[in-house]
Amino acid sequence: NYESKVTVVGSGNWGSVASKLIASNTLRLSSFHDEVRMWVYEEILPSGEKLTDVINSTNENVKYLPGIKLGKNVVADPDLENAVKDANMLVFVTPHQFMEGICRKLVGKINGDVQAISLIKGMEVKMEGPCMISSLISEQLGINCCVLMGANIANEIAVEKFSEATVGYRENREIAEKWVQLFSTPYFLVTAVQDVEGVELCGTLKNVVALAAGFVDGLEMGNNTKAAIMRIGLREMKAFSKLLFSSVKDTTFFESCGVADLITTCLGGRNRKVAEAFAKNGGKRSFDELEAEMLQGQKLQGVSTAREVYEVLGHRGWLELFPLFATVHEICIGRLPPSAIVEHSERKPRFE
Ligand code: NAD
Ligand code: 13P
Repeated sequence: NYESKVTVVGSGNWGSVASKLIASNTLRLSSFHDEVRMWVYEEILPSGEKLTDVINSTNENVKYLPGIKLGKNVVADPDLENAVKDANMLVFVTPHQFMEGICRKLVGKINGDVQAISLIKGMEVKMEGPCMISSLISEQLGINCCVLMGANIANEIAVEKFSEATVGYRENREIAEKWVQLFSTPYFLVTAVQDVEGVELCGTLKNVVALAAGFVDGLEMGNNTKAAIMRIGLREMKAFSKLLFSSVKDTTFFESCGVADLITTCLGGRNRKVAEAFAKNGGKRSFDELEAEMLQGQKLQGVSTAREVYEVLGHRGWLELFPLFATVHEICIGRLPPSAIVEHSERKPRFE
């Protein structure tokens, strides 16, 4: 009678919603232990209280997901080591820039028999080249890591509006099915595909395209322009993914993690919203400043991903092939004005 114990590493906007989804299923399904541990990066609220204490007393993440009950079986824990020590299913969902540090702290601290999944949209660039976050987790911790990505604006799923998601797995279909079980609800439909890299690159790269869509919105260029930018962006997403990993499948781009996530993020995401403000200000206020002012502690992934992608393009001599990706980064760092998004991206990439 073996019950899987789940720990969620991360408790931001999506981390909190993921915990809520999972907690509703661990109560319902006998193969999972009821309690879900959620690691919280501790902070002191303006009231002087600790965020963890408030989550545990109110059952709400009052800072990152106010107004939503997480489920009584979600237990917030500020101690990373303690939070993971008994778990055999680990769900990673923090902004990607914190994952290297988190993995370093977890080395030697997790159970032998652990499965992981990453909900994190982003990548690292190392001396050897790009490293997806699921690979970072796998390599640093010596565990198998699936991914879950999709058209998943957290605040909409929090109020149980219907959406879909994609689990990407490497070899073991049974493990992918277990993750599908853990996340699926009548309003959250999860499909598994055997293409970890494709799924993760879709989730990662669409944040760069969302910045481009935000620039177009800030410049009030209209729907046709925005659709053109999304199309060019999708094409670059596919070309870049396939150049990095020849195993990436075309069909993955038609799953929720592909075109659907691109659309929702370009319509309603945080990257789009802050990029719109950036363009409205003519690029005179930095993304860091706008992020701090507009997102109350939540983090953008697109700006650092654009830099990381640019580094890879530069190293490999591919800058010319990806004018939209390259231009987004050059706008973010102030080398080009926001209007360059259209002037520079309309040159056709040479890859199908
Ligand atoms: P968020 O943007 O709400 O991020 C803030 C989180 O980062 C908080 O939990 C905060 O405590 C934590 N944090 C701050 N400083 C830290 C540090 N030094 N070390 C560790 N943690 C620190 O987070 P989120 O929305 O849950 O996003 C996590 C991942 O999920 C991202 O990769 C994002 O792209 C992805 N995602 C988000 C959404 C969404 O709608 N929010 C949807 C799908 C995927
Ligand atoms: P933003 O981080 O731009 O809000 O995108 C959220 C997301 O990934 C939706 O699937």
